[in-house]
Amino acid sequence: MRGQFFNFVTALSIASLPACGLDVQPGGQDEVPPSTTQTQPQPQTQPLPPEVSSVLNLPDTSYGYANIDLPAHFRTPFVQAQDNTPAANPISNDGATLGRVLFYDKNLSANRTVACASCHGQDHGFSDTRQLSPGFGGELTARNSMPLSNARFYRSGKFFWDERAATLEAQVLLPIQSTVEMGLTLPELVDRVAAQSYYPALFTRAFGSAEVTTDRISKALAQFVRSIVSYRSRFDQGVAATGSIGPSFANFTAEENRGKALFLGPAGCAACHLINPPGAPPPNPPPTTLNNQAVFFINVATNNGLTAGFTTDNGVGDITKNTADFGRFKSPELRNVALTAPYMHDGSIDTLAKVVEHYNSGVLAHPNLDPRLRVPGTMTPRKLNLTPADSAALVAFLGTLTDESLISDPAYANPFRNAGGK
Ligand code: HEC
Ligand code: HEC
Repeated sequence: MRGQFFNFVTALSIASLPACGLDVQPGGQDEVPPSTTQTQPQPQTQPLPPEVSSVLNLPDTSYGYANIDLPAHFRTPFVQAQDNTPAANPISNDGATLGRVLFYDKNLSANRTVACASCHGQDHGFSDTRQLSPGFGGELTARNSMPLSNARFYRSGKFFWDERAATLEAQVLLPIQSTVEMGLTLPELVDRVAAQSYYPALFTRAFGSAEVTTDRISKALAQFVRSIVSYRSRFDQGVAATGSIGPSFANFTAEENRGKALFLGPAGCAACHLINPPGAPPPNPPPTTLNNQAVFFINVATNNGLTAGFTTDNGVGDITKNTADFGRFKSPELRNVALTAPYMHDGSIDTLAKVVEHYNSGVLAHPNLDPRLRVPGTMTPRKLNLTPADSAALVAFLGTLTDESLISDPAYANPFRNAGGK
């Protein structure tokens, strides 16, 4: 099926090219003689047809989204078990490529002004610097946009601050249908996508035929979001070189090492933001066998004391109607957090220094406040008594989670040749 399509496309593009165009076909053997030292057969490169390449800056052979070469600290059984990729939607290079184009395509909003990327910018860790984001009609979202790196490692697979989407495949269709964000019905979405000249070839590469369905759009978008893995920060270089998160990293400043020790130990951040098997909060320094030294997630929504009682936004509680869930929110992965201000579900904290001060002295006594933020055995919020140097060190450590390689990786950038998605 796939082969037939490629022959068809190649025939088409050759037919539409002037004769002299033939010898500049990408991948043509005249330009790149086959290497004799090559041991692995290269994937067959078929040129993308002109209706794709005239609009989109995509390589003829897709970027490698499917088999990212993750470092050892991501390959532990525990971290691998956090992956929420369903058997029915494994990442393929062509599927994630299609998802990337959809992610940046403003045709997916009612008046063609907003794409996913408008609120999830690569340069901001796939988040938004605005407290609330304007949708296609200028109306604001109810909450702060969420950063997307490593969304794939949230074990339960639930998405949004209030976890109302049961899977990523379900989540990605909701902003498109939101009357604030993108404002299309699903039939309108299918018509919009089917009307763009560049999609038939991309759907065929991804799914074997040009047919556009909501299921395929959902799968491709989810594949692209899951492919956004952050693993190339200075923190990752430190773990790789040292073999363990605990000891001082040679590539860190003294302040960053101090911040890391505080994060893992006395400041108690890792007890939530570096999940490990139940009952095993990381001791300081943690042993080399610590199960998770890779993803800075809490695996269930919880309450971190932003408010003292019930409010107009009670997070998970408003979905389940269970008072024990009031004020519980999902926390996104902390990677790239230095780029994703403002913070929290309501975007109410504008700097990392103020986030640290919240945990130091500002945690409020919500009835559902997480026990890890209380004085043990009481309802009283815990105070950390950090010195100003401690607080600055924590902020410096969080900065080591910035992944410049991901932020500048062309595989995740806007593929549209015109202004496109942003
Ligand atoms: C107008 C801004 C806007 C647009 C457009 C938008 N988003 Fe979002 N996104 C948000 C906001 C705000 C949230 C948090 C909403 C909430 O929790 O209630 C969010 C949350 C998410 C999450 C949840 C992350 C997590 O860890 O739970 C994902 C995934 C996501 N968006 C993907 C997308 C995709 C894919 C698209 C395009 C189809 C898109 N978004 C379009 C603003 C936007
Ligand atoms: C009891 C668990 C818990 C502990 C301990 C904890 N946090 Fe959090 N953290 C959360 C939750 C839950 C959220 C999301 C809350 C919300 O938005 O309503 C969050 C949000 C954050 C955010 C904002 C993320 C974003 O993208 O908006 C940062 C930064 C952060 N925490 C850093 C820290 C640091 C630093 C420490 C240690 C001083 C710490 N946390 C301790 C549970 C915790």
